[in-house]
Amino acid sequence: KERVFSGVQPTGNLHLGNYLGAITKFVALQDNYDCIYCVVDMHAITVWQEPRELAHATREVTAAFIACGIDPKKHIVFNQSQVAEHAELAWVFNCVARLGWLNRMTQFKEKAGKDRENVSVGLYAYPNLMAADILVYRATHVPVGEDQKQHLELARDIAQKFNNDYGASIQNHGYGDMFFPQPEPIIQGPATRVMSLRDGAKKMSKSDASDYSRINLTDDADAIAQKIRKAKTDPEPLPSEEKGLEPRPEADNLVGIYAALSDKTKAQVLGEFGGGQFSTFKSALVDLAVAKLGPIGAEMKKLVQDPVYIDSVLAEGSDRARVIAADTMKAVKDIVGFVRR
Ligand code: TYM
Repeated sequence: KERVFSGVQPTGNLHLGNYLGAITKFVALQDNYDCIYCVVDMHAITVWQEPRELAHATREVTAAFIACGIDPKKHIVFNQSQVAEHAELAWVFNCVARLGWLNRMTQFKEKAGKDRENVSVGLYAYPNLMAADILVYRATHVPVGEDQKQHLELARDIAQKFNNDYGASIQNHGYGDMFFPQPEPIIQGPATRVMSLRDGAKKMSKSDASDYSRINLTDDADAIAQKIRKAKTDPEPLPSEEKGLEPRPEADNLVGIYAALSDKTKAQVLGEFGGGQFSTFKSALVDLAVAKLGPIGAEMKKLVQDPVYIDSVLAEGSDRARVIAADTMKAVKDIVGFVRR
């Protein structure tokens, strides 16, 4: 059976972008794949995190996974730092990936900003760890938002270079021509890049200073309603055709959110609301968002009250993940020429 892997960082508030771009996909893939969903705490510390907040956020992301409908009995849910093989394989990949490849990563450039001398080495090497996360399970499919596309391409390049560099050894050890698969990104639907509610040119993000820029998964009905009512729009009514959204990023974003939340296409949403006033559409969006997100937020809040349960999910998930990862690492050690017992 093909295997799905994906990860979410435990840094601050999970928001509608994480939900629509990633977590809803995680849920949908459960029927047809063996899935591994990881709270990537080791990625989080590439930027300093207050230790108690990191631990809390790790449990909160786990709670979100479960509240959204991921089944930790059927699939694997765990936090990255409990499976040391991620770090082990990442080191090998640090030696496979080229500086030039990492220099092209746009997310590093954005996050590092002007003060490049002062960001952590981890932030720079981050995409290699991400490749290790995926490939230590030899995962074939990776559901992510649009912003992770370049990192996925790098993971594919790393897999290919490892397969080439160690081609003879891979053959000698009986693994055929290829040890690592080329992981396929799954980036689909109307909400692969959810934008800020305050600025249609900016991605919705955990780190935006304005809480009005995003809808958090733990927002209550009033907060959701207020944020949608205050969301930036233009004065025109909604167009009836999708191409009418092209020059209107804020309208496009809200229509995309409605479409994703209702499992429709943007064209279908415009069929319903095109030509009408924005206020009518926004009211419908408030009702839809509250109906979808309200129960998730409530369930998350309930689950985080029980850290013993959450921690047991992560412990059990780690144990199951480690079995697969350890198997890959044994093979990698043989292929690379590391002597082992
Ligand atoms: P992170 O924690 O920033 O985001 C988690 C997931 O949410 C998606 N996402 C969005 N999708 C649509 N619109 C948005 N505005 C939006 N913001 C975030 C992200 O694309 C992601 O899918 N590097 C990853 C975590 C990671 C990972 C991995 C992912 C580590 N190892 C291995 C896949 C496979 C990250 O920082 O995601």
